[in-house]
Amino acid sequence: MAFFVSLRCKNSLIMIASSVINVTRAERSKLQDTNFDKLVFGRYFTDHMLEADYENGEWKNVEIKPFQPLLMSPSLAALHYGQSIFEGIKAYRDKEGNAYIFRPQDNFRRFNISAARMQMPLVPEEIFMEGMRRLVAIDKNWIPAKEDYSLYIRPVMFASDEVIGVKPSDNYKFFILLSPTGPYYSAPMRIYVEEKYTRAAPGGVGFSKTAGNYASALMASAVAKEQGYDQVLWTDAFEHRFVQEIGTMNVFFIIGDVAVTPGLEEGTILEGVTRQSAISLLQEMGLKVEERPLSIDEIITAHKKGTLKEVFGTGTAATISMIKELKYKDYVIHFDTDKWKVAPTLKKWITDIREGRREDKYDWMWKV
Ligand SMILES: Cc1ncc(COP(=O)(O)O)c(C=O)c1O
Repeated sequence: MAFFVSLRCKNSLIMIASSVINVTRAERSKLQDTNFDKLVFGRYFTDHMLEADYENGEWKNVEIKPFQPLLMSPSLAALHYGQSIFEGIKAYRDKEGNAYIFRPQDNFRRFNISAARMQMPLVPEEIFMEGMRRLVAIDKNWIPAKEDYSLYIRPVMFASDEVIGVKPSDNYKFFILLSPTGPYYSAPMRIYVEEKYTRAAPGGVGFSKTAGNYASALMASAVAKEQGYDQVLWTDAFEHRFVQEIGTMNVFFIIGDVAVTPGLEEGTILEGVTRQSAISLLQEMGLKVEERPLSIDEIITAHKKGTLKEVFGTGTAATISMIKELKYKDYVIHFDTDKWKVAPTLKKWITDIREGRREDKYDWMWKV
């Protein structure tokens, strides 16, 4: 029997028609056809997906079914006006075959923060978390039980009104895809300080994981690549002086014995789950962590004084990416990343927690 649960957010009341998740199994698994030695990130998907619809003010049709295309009208609202959000999460498998997901509650929370900002309905825990748990359990054999391998989980919600018009959609689709991924080796990167393009401004959507943020950042990345760089270091929209993020990663600077990362107050930075994990582990290493505005002037002054030790990015895909070159105008900073202590230790600790080789004292691993 259907029952109703209500969740009150700032200005909307979300109804769930039923917590029942219908499951239709794939007739044949693609697992044997997938070459796990040649996994290209995001290209292969497991046998099943989860789908749910938001219609008439309530979530319904929650279903796990064989991975398949979506049928959509060319007038689909999300395609025209970009009401679309997503998340990126990873699942692991231990030697005993148990599946674990890394801090999914934080992604669930962030997903609904994105939803609220984009005038979309919240997705209830019964669908996001329970749906993800059921889906990962069904496709558990797709989690490669090998070091540095994982199952990437991609929840998405988009506006599904079939009407052209700039307004919040009345209908939405939520789905979750699973994609096995191999080791993601991120070589130390060359980056420059971005002074022309802007990723996020106060009052904008920088803190949300909405599709348009990624489309609008493509130009700066393309220009960086043309010039032989791997990524840009985003800076504030007004003066291009205060640092924000590196590409799609949060950024940390080790200055003396302090780890400095830009603060979240202005709403221009995505609150990374890896960033939060890095803050806890850096403190465990004995470093002081400061979340605050950090200017290019301060970074250059620290470099001139010899106190700028390490610069690295954090994110779900690569975990930790070291920066070997940082350029600001004509000022170029080179690092010998082989001598670094903090970033490699951080990467090892996070990877070891995820893969069960280090005690999970923060309760980050969520058993499926
Ligand atoms: C813009 C941006 N910043 C930071 C991050 C890092 O966040 P997380 O550690 O949750 O993957 C991501 C990746 O999700 C991102 O897209």
